[in-house]
Amino acid sequence: MKVVIPGGTGQVGTILDRALTAAGHDVVLLTRSPKGDRQVHWDGSAPGDWVKEIDGSDVVINLAGRSVSCRYTAKNLEAMMRSRVDSALVVGGAIAAAARPPKVWLQMSTATIYAHRFDAANDEDSGLIGGDEPGVPAYWAYSVKIARNWEAAQEQATTPGTRKVALRSAMVMSPDRGGVFDVLSRLARLGLGGPVAGGRQYVSWIHDRDFVNAIQFLIERDDLAGPVNVAAPGPLPHRDFMRALRSAARMPVGLPATKWMAELGAFAIRSDTELLLKSRRVVPARLTDAGFTFDHPRWQGAADDLASRQRSTHPR
Ligand SMILES: NC(=O)c1ccc[n+]([C@@H]2O[C@H](COP(=O)([O-])OP(=O)(O)OC[C@H]3O[C@@H](n4cnc5c(N)ncnc54)[C@H](OP(=O)(O)O)[C@@H]3O)[C@@H](O)[C@H]2O)c1
Repeated sequence: MKVVIPGGTGQVGTILDRALTAAGHDVVLLTRSPKGDRQVHWDGSAPGDWVKEIDGSDVVINLAGRSVSCRYTAKNLEAMMRSRVDSALVVGGAIAAAARPPKVWLQMSTATIYAHRFDAANDEDSGLIGGDEPGVPAYWAYSVKIARNWEAAQEQATTPGTRKVALRSAMVMSPDRGGVFDVLSRLARLGLGGPVAGGRQYVSWIHDRDFVNAIQFLIERDDLAGPVNVAAPGPLPHRDFMRALRSAARMPVGLPATKWMAELGAFAIRSDTELLLKSRRVVPARLTDAGFTFDHPRWQGAADDLASRQRSTHPR
């Protein structure tokens, strides 16, 4: 198959490119800074020569979006919104105009679309969409608005020949340098892998190999369209998540951090505490109902596997 991945140069794109290329597919990445012959220039907001890559392709997986690991200033939030909505609109336009449209368009969305909650897990049918939870910072609603507008841009595209799936993905955990798992396990090894703000908040996650398998499953399964939660079936409270991570990183202790310490730390690394403090409790009902099985449904097993791959690929 020819698979076109707009925004495919980042963490998730690298995982997919590696796996789909190894499986024998022809993968083309759309990027603002192309390097090499499998990368094609686009600007993420207007049609250009790149639309020829979409015409005649089999699958489009749009991952483009300004990184969310930043301070949530008004300027950054606007860039997070525009880069996601504009890229989804322009990809939809290219598919709509194609003489030979792809059979499926997988559009990245996020598990962050669901409400901050502890009482029950969010699946696609009964889950609560966030935005008006009491007692959380008002700006958290903006992340939900980004996700809703991102999905709406795909929903509104008129692409009758192309199945559309919105990937409500949790954090994708891989041993790659600079990825979320790498950063968290480095903190754990420094003794800083304790719970933050009490650690009651749920963490949703997915192992990289399950992520790739889920994408391949969604490409193949013609009967699945619309929003799909791409998350392991075992989300868990942050304190248990960190305990398993410490055990995988072979570091028995982890300093707990209060909310204000997290604020300070996030400020220091130019990130935002919403990523740590929001309770993301998401389960993959549509995938499991459709018969998808996870190799790593539980976090301890997944973390042990990731840590052991990390040690073998870049030993310290
Ligand atoms: N990583 C996760 O665990 C996770 C979980 C859920 C959802 N997501 C979402 O999935 C997508 C991919 O995640 P990722 O971790 O791979 O992100 P990433 O490493 O930040 O990569 C995103 C890519 O988007 C492109 N991009 C950035 N700003 C852009 C802009 N203004 N216009 C057009 N393209 C732009 C960049 O490509 P170029 O610089 O090459 O153009 C970049 O490589 C993101 O939208 C993210 O929010 C990620």
